[in-house]
Amino acid sequence: MNLPHIPRRVALVTGAAGELGRAICQRLSHDGLDLIAADINLDAARTLVDSLPLAEGQRAIAVHADLGDAASIAALVELGGGAFGRIDVVVNNAAVNHRGSLHDFDPAQWDHMMAVNLRGPALLCQKVAPYWKAQASGRVINIVSRCWVAGGPPAYVACKAGLVGLTRSMARELAPDNVTVNAIAPGLLPSAFTLDGRDAESFERMARGSINNTPLKRLATPQDIAGTTAFLASEDAAFITAEVIHVCGGSQLAPFGN
Ligand SMILES: NC(=O)c1ccc[n+]([C@@H]2O[C@H](COP(=O)([O-])OP(=O)(O)OC[C@H]3O[C@@H](n4cnc5c(N)ncnc54)[C@H](O)[C@@H]3O)[C@@H](O)[C@H]2O)c1
Repeated sequence: MNLPHIPRRVALVTGAAGELGRAICQRLSHDGLDLIAADINLDAARTLVDSLPLAEGQRAIAVHADLGDAASIAALVELGGGAFGRIDVVVNNAAVNHRGSLHDFDPAQWDHMMAVNLRGPALLCQKVAPYWKAQASGRVINIVSRCWVAGGPPAYVACKAGLVGLTRSMARELAPDNVTVNAIAPGLLPSAFTLDGRDAESFERMARGSINNTPLKRLATPQDIAGTTAFLASEDAAFITAEVIHVCGGSQLAPFGN
């Protein structure tokens, strides 16, 4: 008997070699998707891909990509799409963080953050859109941050709030091709991103403050975010679009009581 060939779904994850990116790749490949693991750090993306326990016939490739560079994004989609012939899920996870207050931010760093964290996801979706049209389906999952609503360093918050706006805008524009677009807003967790330039003691202080303001009284874990990503990529989430799911233990709420 000839069974119909059901193609394996393909996920493209940016910032795949980072703390959250690795957990997201591990979970999506565990769930049976093929993977395009994109990162500016190709060696680290290769190490991740080599570590994935893949099923028979399942594939994962590492691709160099700089989300701040339009030509690099075009090359990523050409290479990844060319390798698999389809792209089903895009997880916009890569981001850079230059800290700085309104009083002392550096305009060049502001532009770099906007390019990588906000323009990058838009350009990537623009390039993948023809695949979604051809497949009549697709999923976009944008990793933002709880600070889009809580506030914080202005450039970082501005690009994450902008990415929420882009999520809602793309949800409407891509809906005719049966593409859902949602965002996940994680709470604080230790990573190169949050430790950058901080010593252990100052991270500890920040973590204690964050737990204090979190009703569920702990930090986020990469698996919390990966699980929500897997849900949004799954059939169970087919009718959810334009949403922001806060995965931060309730810390998006204003502090209450003491
Ligand atoms: N860690 C947290 O507490 C936290 C909280 C809320 C939201 N987030 C968000 O989660 C996402 C992942 O953060 P993380 O904590 O895993 O950070 P991370 O530093 O561990 O990972 C970021 C990854 O992005 C890659 N990257 C950096 N610049 C790039 C570029 N120009 N092009 C392509 N890849 C690039 C890095 O090489 C790295 O592998 C980010 O969008 C971040 O804003 C993190």
